Amino acid sequence: MHNRYKVNAEDFDGPVLLTGAGGCIGSWVLSLLVDAEVPVFALDVQKDTRRPKLLMSESELGLVKWLVGDISEPNTMMKAMEVSKATSIIHLAALQVPFCKADPIAGAKVNVVGTVNVFEAARKHKISRLSYASSIAAHGVFDAKTLPTLYGAYKFCNEQTARVYLQDWGVPSVGMRPGVVYGIGRDQGMTSKTTVAILAAAAGKPYTIPFTGAVSWLHAGEVASAFIKAVSQPRDQAVVFDINGFSSTVEQSLEVLKKVAPGSSITASGPALPFPMALSDDPLREFLGDYGQMPLEEGISNTHNIFRSLLDKGLISAESID
Ligand SMILES: NC(=O)c1ccc[n+]([C@@H]2O[C@H](COP(=O)([O-])OP(=O)(O)OC[C@H]3O[C@@H](n4cnc5c(N)ncnc54)[C@H](O)[C@@H]3O)[C@@H](O)[C@H]2O)c1
Repeated sequence: MHNRYKVNAEDFDGPVLLTGAGGCIGSWVLSLLVDAEVPVFALDVQKDTRRPKLLMSESELGLVKWLVGDISEPNTMMKAMEVSKATSIIHLAALQVPFCKADPIAGAKVNVVGTVNVFEAARKHKISRLSYASSIAAHGVFDAKTLPTLYGAYKFCNEQTARVYLQDWGVPSVGMRPGVVYGIGRDQGMTSKTTVAILAAAAGKPYTIPFTGAVSWLHAGEVASAFIKAVSQPRDQAVVFDINGFSSTVEQSLEVLKKVAPGSSITASGPALPFPMALSDDPLREFLGDYGQMPLEEGISNTHNIFRSLLDKGLISAESID
């Protein structure tokens, strides 16, 4: 699957520091960077390599230098920059919608203060290659059709933070607002259920996706590739783009899944997700150039087949799906 996403080691002038490396998108970033032989330091609040191991061998993972630290602590990023001597930062660490709702203060510490700490470290180390994850949920701040969430408010705050760091201290950045990410490693967050459905199909378990209607299908490898491409050259602006992948409906996607796994019993019910699901990737593609693209049917089919093989090897379980 990796040859869809071309990463060039020659584009990098030093190691990459990746926050949130143990998460879904982080695992794909790690895997793509290691595959291309780009030196990478992983930073996460814990050394939980369960998701990276779904994509990488032990020996590949051995090439990653793992740093454990909480980004909401000001020293964590400063130390990580000193240890890694990174010349690029990809910032993905965050608490997702349900976690911000359950603990708004923790959400603000990680998502808001943590991001300020990342920008402070970039400022001190004169980093001109910084990409970070905002979210489609940020649309909730200014678009009446999108559900406002604390998570979205924090993400919007990150975008404003980025603008001010450029204006006041010349720190450039590329922010991206991913839609619904699916693929190996996507197992938490309110929009993870399309991936849970593929896992359930691979395990032969019945499952009902708790939403219907429009949905974006953004392959985790594709968004990871875009975050990498964003730091593959120095930047001089603070820009933010939507990144949506394919727009479909849950119902249409279930037909694709049915073709891939004819015996599966996956349904959907409930209201549509309260986020924009048909945003254009054109402005981002124009800005970044080619970062690869995963066709929907191939992405669902590959994800299903990899889940099947991980289930067979006992590397993943579908037991908690209900
Ligand atoms: N997955 C999606 O559909 C989606 C959509 C829009 C935006 N995003 C954003 O993309 C980024 C990556 O998403 P993901 O799906 O990989 O998330 P994830 O929840 O799978 O991973 C987040 C990672 O951040 C780490 N983390 C949490 N708190 C931390 C802290 N205080 N210090 C250091 N690390 C910490 C977690 O341990 C985890 O490994 C996040 O910023 C997320 O908000 C994701």
